[in-house]
Amino acid sequence: MQTIIEPFRIKMVEPVKLTTREERAALIHAAHYNPFLLRAEDVIIDLLTDSGTSAMSADAWAALMRGDESYAGSRSWYRFRDTVQEIFGFSQVIPTHQGRAAEHILFGITVQPGFIVPNNTHFDTTRANIEYRGGKAIDLPCPEATDLVSDYPFKGNMDIEALDALVRLEGREKIPLIMVTVTNNSAGGQPVSMENIRAISRIAREAGIPFYIDACRFAENAHFIKRREPAFRNRPTVEIAREMFSYADGCTMSAKKDAFANIGGFLCTNDAELAQRERNILILSEGFPTYGGLAGRDLDAIAVGLREVLDEDYLDYRLLSTRYVARHLHDAGIPVIMPAGGHAVYVDARRFLPHIPPLSYPAQALAVELFIEAGIRAVEIGTVMFGADPQTGEERPARNDLVRLAIPRRVYTQSHMDYVLEAIGLVWQRREQIRGMRILRAPQYLRHFTAEFDWLGPAAV
Ligand code: F0G
Repeated sequence: MQTIIEPFRIKMVEPVKLTTREERAALIHAAHYNPFLLRAEDVIIDLLTDSGTSAMSADAWAALMRGDESYAGSRSWYRFRDTVQEIFGFSQVIPTHQGRAAEHILFGITVQPGFIVPNNTHFDTTRANIEYRGGKAIDLPCPEATDLVSDYPFKGNMDIEALDALVRLEGREKIPLIMVTVTNNSAGGQPVSMENIRAISRIAREAGIPFYIDACRFAENAHFIKRREPAFRNRPTVEIAREMFSYADGCTMSAKKDAFANIGGFLCTNDAELAQRERNILILSEGFPTYGGLAGRDLDAIAVGLREVLDEDYLDYRLLSTRYVARHLHDAGIPVIMPAGGHAVYVDARRFLPHIPPLSYPAQALAVELFIEAGIRAVEIGTVMFGADPQTGEERPARNDLVRLAIPRRVYTQSHMDYVLEAIGLVWQRREQIRGMRILRAPQYLRHFTAEFDWLGPAAV
């Protein structure tokens, strides 16, 4: 069968409020042309993030009811810890309220001013937590990542030669750990191959440097390995996941992604002494070590989600449904990053709107037009997000200007995706009339969340 079906049935629904084009034009104007400033109820299809927005299963909701809210040593904690140990294989498990809390604790202990942390590409909170400690976050994406259209299967990989050179130059005195992000969110949700993970691990071990995995989308990455790396074709995805982690010394995880949870995360290591220091910080900021920043019921929901996410029928559906969106856009001549990533489709706004220069924010203009056309909320990843020099405030073009359509897990159906495709097609037809934008007001840091915009010249709506 060619038709992709969702491998689940729907037994509870959330209404979506439909709006007219005129209403949406007024709503986005009132939100100063920044989709972050919209009310969620005014959005028809919300593709702002895949984080914390997944649909939980009947089993996960049932597990919430089993939650044991004891302050110390709850049953929920043991179910959570055992599941994490079984899949990730690390001896020490530290629950946190979300991924960035795990990062904050890890880097708070390991990074000192002047230290360097390499990664294939740091996610923005990871980078910020390293820089907050006075460290330097260095991105080492593989050279293939810069070609947005080639069909290279593992564009999330790290540049092994560059890593080797950096490790030789700086050594373990300056590099407290090496990290790899699976899948590589900031580089299009592209996967990292097992071969690449092994190579990173080898370099790290030879240099005596701990190797960590940012594991947010570990199940999607493991399934990409199964489908794209020939040696793994016949291996169960859960075993592939275990093998990935077997090369690492620890991980950070946001359970808001590949655990279907609305909140939660954890930090793992095999180093009992380090874990003790991490727990001391955990108690200050998150909570007692058997609950971290979470309720017992959250721990139970995560334990169920971590097992469910490794279901191969689900993962086939997940990767195919994302690919369906990217393929259809690509076949219609609409510029998207190819091949599709796991959790999101990235439209290349610079090629979509070649008449709008980067400093007039083409991806912001496109995100606004998607909302006006069809009530779709997406996020700009480009010159608005990365274009201001934090020291001087000077504007410069970011590496790319992309619109990310992040797809929440098990939330939208194929017909919702067809609606998204039709909407993008309609905006594509009138692309030449779309104007660039300017920033009216913006804070110094993380300006994309709250900046206010207006059209350059008369609006195209
Ligand atoms: N690492 C990666 C690769 C992420 O994508 C995220 C979050 C985090 C760490 C932080 O986890 O949100 O639980 O604190 N990414 C979300 C996104 C916000 O929209 O891509 P968190």
